[in-house]
This record gives sequence, C-alpha cells and structure tokens, in this order.
Amino acid sequence: MHVAGPPSSRWAAYLGLLSALSAAFAPAVAVKEHDFKKCHQSGFCQRNRAFADHALASTAWESPYTIAAESGSFKDGQYQAVILKTVSDSGETVRLPITVSFLESGTARVTVDEEKRQKGEIELRHDSKARKERYNEAEQWAIVGGMTLDKAAKIGYEDKTQITVKYGPSSKFEATIKLSPFSIDFKRDGSSQIKFNDQGLLNVEHWRPKIEKPEPEKTEGESTEENKAEETKEEPKDEDESTWWDETFGGNTDTKPRGPESVALDISFVGYEHVYGIPSHASSLSLKQTRGGDGNYQEPYRMYNADVFEYILDSPMTLYGSIPFMQAHRKDSSVGVFWLNAAETWVDITKGKDAKNPLSLGGKAKTNTHTHWISESGLLDVFVFLGPTPKDLTAKYGELTGTTAMPQEFSLGYHQCRWNYVSDDDVKDVDRKMDKFKMPYDVIWLDIEYTDEKKYFTWDKHTFTDPIGMGKQLDSHGRKLVTIIDPHIKNVDNYPVVAEMKSKDLGVKNKEGNLFEGWCWPGSSHWIDAFSPASREWWSSLFKYDTFKGTMENTWIWNDMNEPSVFNGPETTMPKDNLHDGNWEHRDVHNLNGMTFQNATYHALITRKPGELRRPFVLTRSFFAGSQRVGAMWTGDNQAAWDHLQASIPMILSQGIAGFPFSGADVGGFFGNPDKDLLTRWYQAGAFYPFFRGHAHIDARRREPYLIGEPYTTIIGAALRLRYSLLPSWYTAFRHAHLDGTPVVKPMFYTHPSEEAGLAIDDQFFVGNTGLLAKPVTEKDQVSVDVWIPDAEVYYDYFTYAVVPTRKGERVALEAPMEKIPLLMRGGHVFARRDVPRRSSALMRWDDYTLVVTVPRDGKAAVAAEGDLYVDDGDSFDFQDGQYIHRRFVFDGAAKSLTSVDAEGRDTAAIKEGEWMQRMRAVGVDKIVVVGAPASWAGKKSVTVESEGKTWEARVEFTPAAQGRAAFAVVKKVGVRIGADWRVGF
Ligand code: NOJ
Repeated sequence: MHVAGPPSSRWAAYLGLLSALSAAFAPAVAVKEHDFKKCHQSGFCQRNRAFADHALASTAWESPYTIAAESGSFKDGQYQAVILKTVSDSGETVRLPITVSFLESGTARVTVDEEKRQKGEIELRHDSKARKERYNEAEQWAIVGGMTLDKAAKIGYEDKTQITVKYGPSSKFEATIKLSPFSIDFKRDGSSQIKFNDQGLLNVEHWRPKIEKPEPEKTEGESTEENKAEETKEEPKDEDESTWWDETFGGNTDTKPRGPESVALDISFVGYEHVYGIPSHASSLSLKQTRGGDGNYQEPYRMYNADVFEYILDSPMTLYGSIPFMQAHRKDSSVGVFWLNAAETWVDITKGKDAKNPLSLGGKAKTNTHTHWISESGLLDVFVFLGPTPKDLTAKYGELTGTTAMPQEFSLGYHQCRWNYVSDDDVKDVDRKMDKFKMPYDVIWLDIEYTDEKKYFTWDKHTFTDPIGMGKQLDSHGRKLVTIIDPHIKNVDNYPVVAEMKSKDLGVKNKEGNLFEGWCWPGSSHWIDAFSPASREWWSSLFKYDTFKGTMENTWIWNDMNEPSVFNGPETTMPKDNLHDGNWEHRDVHNLNGMTFQNATYHALITRKPGELRRPFVLTRSFFAGSQRVGAMWTGDNQAAWDHLQASIPMILSQGIAGFPFSGADVGGFFGNPDKDLLTRWYQAGAFYPFFRGHAHIDARRREPYLIGEPYTTIIGAALRLRYSLLPSWYTAFRHAHLDGTPVVKPMFYTHPSEEAGLAIDDQFFVGNTGLLAKPVTEKDQVSVDVWIPDAEVYYDYFTYAVVPTRKGERVALEAPMEKIPLLMRGGHVFARRDVPRRSSALMRWDDYTLVVTVPRDGKAAVAAEGDLYVDDGDSFDFQDGQYIHRRFVFDGAAKSLTSVDAEGRDTAAIKEGEWMQRMRAVGVDKIVVVGAPASWAGKKSVTVESEGKTWEARVEFTPAAQGRAAFAVVKKVGVRIGADWRVGF
C-alpha cells in the first residue's frame, strides 16, 4: 500500500536539508544518484542489456523473430503481417501483428503489437483491475497529423524471403522487409540509412502465466557488474526471472500484474557518427556512447520523467521530461526515428566502424551508430524519417506531433520569479524597483507560498490580501502574473477542491482501484488524473475567474511537479501499478503524465471566460512529444554554478531539435547563491534562451537584478534591453517554429549540415533566421571566447560593427569583458528590432521598427541579404484568420535597394483588417541600418523611398570603415508603414 508514510529522503531533503544549505550552499551537493535506478536495477533494462550482450557476443546468434510465410499483405500504403516469436525454452510461438505504414509525408511507421489471447488464457495477477492489452493510446496524445497513407507507395520487389516497398518523394525511399529473421532496411536513393533488428536485439517479452516456482534468494538491485557478466554467458532461456513478477527498489515494491512485457529493438544508423535528441538530459548535444570506454557513459540514456533533486551534469540520467525523438547526422545527411512509447525507456548508444558498411566501398570506413531502445511496456511503435536535411526532420516530426504553439508575445520577454514573493506588497515593490532601475520585464511569478497552505486555487489571506489590486498594478504597465498550480491536491477537510475531486472520482487510483494518496508539498495529497475527460472538464471549471478568485485576464499558469513528483513514491514518483482513466497502469503512461496535465491547464485557460479566446501561457516542468503544442518548459532545478550555466545551452539546443524549442533554464541557478559575475553572465546567456526567466530557491538570497550593484546592474539592464530590442526577431523565429517545427535557436549542425567540424559544437547557436550568432560566456573569469565560424561569410560584431577576421571552419577569439555578450552578425541577413527601451513588451506594441541589413561578402548579388518579420496581435488567435503582417525584406546589391513585400505573396489589400491591423497602419520603419555599406555610398545624403504610390527622400548618414570596423549607413525616419510594400533605393 502506498499511503502516507514516513517522509522519504527526498521529502526530508527538501524540507530540512535545504534550509540548512541556504547561504553557505556547497555546489558539491549533488543528486543522490542511488535514489534513481541504474539499468541493472530496472529489471527489464537489465534483461534487455543481457539479451544484447548475449546476441552480440555470438557470431551464430539469430534473432528468433520471423514473419509468418503468407501472412503478409500490402495495400494502400500499408504492409501487414504477423511476426512469429519462437520462445527458446518451450518452442512455443507467439504471434505479433506488425503494420508498416508508409505516410504521404515520406515518413514510415512500424507498429508491433501482441495478438490478443483467448479470454482466460492470460490472467492478471493480484486481482488487479489493470487493462489486459498493450497500451495503445500514446498515439492519441502525441500525434496530431501527418498520418495520411501514401497510396502511391508500391512494391518494388517481392519474393519468398523479402519485400521491398518504394515510397516517399519521387519514390526515393525504400524499405526492405526481410522475413526471416525479421529485419527492415530503410534506404534513401538506394543506400541504407536506418536498419531495424540488424543486430538481432528485437525483443518483445510476451505475456505468460506465472508459474509458481520457489522464490530465488534475491536482494534489492542485486545484479552487480560481475554477476551481470556471468549472466551474459548463459543462454537467454535461463534469463533472470527474478524481476518478472515484482520488483523492489528504494523500499517500494512494484507489483506487475502482467509480468514481463518489455519491447526492445536495435536501430542502426548506417554511416552516421552523430546522434542528437531524446531530451531531457544534462548531457552534450551530440549524444555519447553508453556502454563504457573512455569518455563514454556506462549507463543508457534513460527516459522516465522524474523530479531529480539537484541533478548532476554530464549524465544520461533521466530528468523531468522525455521526447523519444532522435536525429542522426553525417555530412549532408540527416535521418531519424521517433519511438512512440510512454513507458520507462532506456537507450543504449554505441558506435563502430563497420567493414561491411556499403558506404565504405572504395572509401574509408564510415562510423555506424547503433542504438538499442528498451521500453518497459506498450507497443513497439517507431516512426522513421529519411531526411535528408535536419530541417526535413524537424518539419516531418512537427507534422506528426504538432509544432510549438504561437506564444503570447509577452512570454518572450523577461520573467521574474523566485520561490517566493512573500506578499502582494512584495510583488508590487519588485515591480516598482524594476522600473526604477530601468529594467524591462513582462511577468512576475508566484510560487507555492502564495496559497493558503498549499491549497491550489486559494490565496494566503494574510500575505496576499488584495490579489486583484496587485494584478491591476501589473496590468497598468502591460505586465502579467503567473501563479503556480500543481497536480497534487491537498487531502484535507474543508477544501472544496479536494472534496469535489473525491466525490466525482477524478483522481489517479492505486492498484486496488481506490483513490491514490501520497505526499507532496501540502503533505497528504491526491493527484488529478488528467487522462480522464471528466477530470479535465472539472479542471477547466476551477480556472473560471469567479472560481479562482483573485485572478484576472493577465494571470497565467505554471504547472510544476507533474512528472508527477510524489515525495514518498518510488523514485519520487507514482507507483507503476497505479491506475489511470480506462484502467491503464501508470507504468504504461508515465512519460505522458506531465503533458496531460499541462494540456488540461491549457484547455482550462482557453475556456476561462465565454468569448475570451486568447492564447494560454502555461509553463511545464514535465513533458513528452507533443507538449510543444501547449506551452513552454524549463530545465528544472539547476544550481548556481558555472557548469550548470554551461550545461543549459546544449540542453536548450537539444529541446529545439526535438520539436520543443520554447525552453529555458533558471537564470542565476535555482539552488544556491550565484556570485555577481555568474549572475551577470547568466543574464547575458538567458537573454538568448527562448524562454527567459530568473528563478531562485526559497533559501537562496534575494537576487532581483537591480540588487546586484554597479557595474553589474547596468550590465544586466543592457542584457535585458538587448532581449527587448530583439523581440520582433524572436517572435519571428517562433513563427517559423510554429509553422514548420524549426528550432528557435539553432546549433551548427542544423544551419551548416555540411560542415563536419561543427557537428558536435553545442556552445554557440544562431537565433532564428537573423544570422545572429551567439556564444554566451559560461566560464568564470573568462574574458574572451573562441567562436567557431561555420562558413566563408563575413561576420560583424553586433555592437561595434567590427569585421571579425574569420576563416571558414576555424575558431576566432572574441573579446568578452564582463559587459560584453559575444554576439556576431552573419553577412547576408535582414532582421528587425525595436530600439526604444520601454518597461514591457506590451508598451512596445505600437513602436516603429529598426531594420538591420548585414551586407555579405558578395554585396553585389541580387539577393545579397534577406530576412523577414512576422507580427500579429501577440495575444489572440486572430492570426489564424490572416490578421498578421509578414514581410520579406530583400537587399539587392546590384540594384542597390531594400524592398519589403508580403512574405507569403498574399494580396494584402484584400485582407479585411481587424482592429489590431488597423492600428498597425500607424506603425512604420523608423531606421534602416546597413552594416558593411559599400564605400561608394560615401557622400550620399539621402535615399529614395517609394511606397503606396508615393516617392520621397529620407536622410542617410554614412560612416566610412575605420580601424577594422565596417562602413555603415543609417537611413533615418524612413517613413514607410511596416505592413506596406516599399522600396528604398540607395
Ligand atoms: C520545484 C520546481 O522545480 C521549482 O522551480 C519550484 O520553485 C519548487 N518546486 C517549489 O514550487
């Protein structure tokens, strides 16, 4: 029984240890690794690793999976057959239906299920109420499109041993399905890219009745490295059954009503040396090998969403959220897989030079990356993407799981958070001080202490006496409030929320089918089951303005602890044998849990008030594939330490290439107290996170950015204002992410997929399509950084316009004293800013724009520089009805002009303008800055502007090149409407 018990070490740690740590916090205190499983402590992971060791050790190994002869059929883009698994000790065969679907997008999907047995043949143990089939609803949560079958897919070749299907754009893709042993080879343009079961590690642990045998002696987590080596020598039929029917870890026993049921498969990326993705891990962007060896991990990358207390760095340990999407890349080619399974999942990665590699013929041997995916339960369900570009991968993945929601514009501004602002006066005081110190910000956040004793949807009456008054003060400068609402509902009398949840039976159940009770911040709690439609409907009712009193139109929500975190649960989360809607075991759906909760909140906010249709803002800690559709995420409880600042960048880049770019890390570090240098550098880096929020633990000293003192106050203020001036470009980058899944901040392999030397670089990135290349300082006392230059283009210093002496493929040292953010502008781009500093993004709404043109090396080309600007009302869904401005700017070096046209070729005159578009008629381009302007412009006093049937002259100031600085020209008071077509002739 998982009832309120003595506080676990995690609980004690949060409540006791942390207050003791406070000011004198020592960063050496790290996560208690032993609180979380290693592979050998997770029965199914250990069994599958042992299976792999056995298979790979023997040259005679043959996978026991074969497609039944005559079972296959191909119709309308789908191949169906039955895989037979021969069980080694009994000789019994198990039937596993397989479907290979070829989708119009060129994506292929392979799904393997287990055939339903005759009723009664397989009985669940423990009288469990758990569902008796493999979990098959992950798709309902994760997939939102792109599932149309490719009717044009056709059989290219077929005989008794194999079938080849040609599919995808111009039939360039093919899949060869071999029947015995079963394997699939996915090819593009005739060469193998991805192979399934090439190493023979496919393993579907079929259901079986429990045969009572005398219990073997066992102790918790007993498999050591030594006896594991022993095990691998054995035949798999003698495999370790000790964790088939129950498993104990950290004093919690997981009863397994269905016994062993894992699914595992080896997926080889032929000729690929780099794999990326499967966030979130505090690891490098290019994933490491996981089976030991120099610089490699010993453990597989784990995905089992968990509240990992003070997580350690450079580790494959699981964190708060999981996206089982992986990209593989080599020079000029990207391919990938999406492993659609919401149960606990481990991924082993090994690399090796393969003599048999067809790509090596006549050339040097290429590296192959072998991955071994292992999930505890559910279907084997994998999508295969054959690229060939990183952009193809993010787009196709986005088609399936959805792209990032178009955010509230304010949410790209700066967020000021701490645990906790202690009263409404405190909030109002911070608000005033930010203004006093001229620090723009958009949102102030309230952590759990604002509530009446952790009862969500209530306020502490003594400290937050007038939440509406507080909300109104914030609103007067266009600012917002975010309040935290967690999924655990306090189990206490006289709390209508819990009373209703109980009476309507809306919570997660324990294995007996009774309301599950565990511990979290409020003490004894129950958890909303956001898988249930009824629970979600109820959840929506709680956010109505007249129910959650004290909230207003500028209140938004933070969902934390939704892994879910259960302080006295196994690995600080829910028992796996808990039950959700439809009697699915928690085991099956664990990694979806956080997403369902954020989704429930998203929908609650959409329906807060009839007729009020605004884009919700919901931050989540836990996530899965698809969470990008409903909000932002952050990387959880980091530390105020330089290495955590450093780690945040690959983590955020990894989020972006896995389709969830709206991400950030706690600026300043959650635990501990950053020194002034660290805090300042963190603000400078944070100004380049897609989600930019300062946050601190309850025991950390106050660190609102104005407290730090000079010269740091000025430096942080400048970083904040830089973020605000670039908001139009950030918003445009989000528009692209929303349209086609492109990351908001892009690593080098994504923008320069041909440059091998850049494929593992993960400490610098481009912002959207701006050509802005940022490399935040992440080391103590660092006054210069080496930026790797991916191409032969010209690069200018953002602040000084100095031409940086660069060479393609080499590193260039940039000076980076404390006041400086290393930021380059690549030649060939046009990007937008708003240069008047104001208190919040809302107050900048009607400001004119500045356009920056960076002239490339070939400044005479017809399209010498280009870029775009997307703008809408930043709040409603009217953009879906065409209420937006999207301009494309082209700087023509031959004609010496800069033009603006509708980026989508729309007939803008035909758009019926709503209120926002009409007001935008008053918004124009104030300035155009041409960096790298040709010397021939010297002496130019004016330029000709043409727009809307009129022609006029605008003043231009030319500054010649000097001492390494590029020449530049500034056109002032351009006078064109941002939404109109125009041309400026230089
Ligand atoms: C854990 C979150 O990660 C942290 O950001 C928050 O401050 C605490 N929970 C308290 O709500």
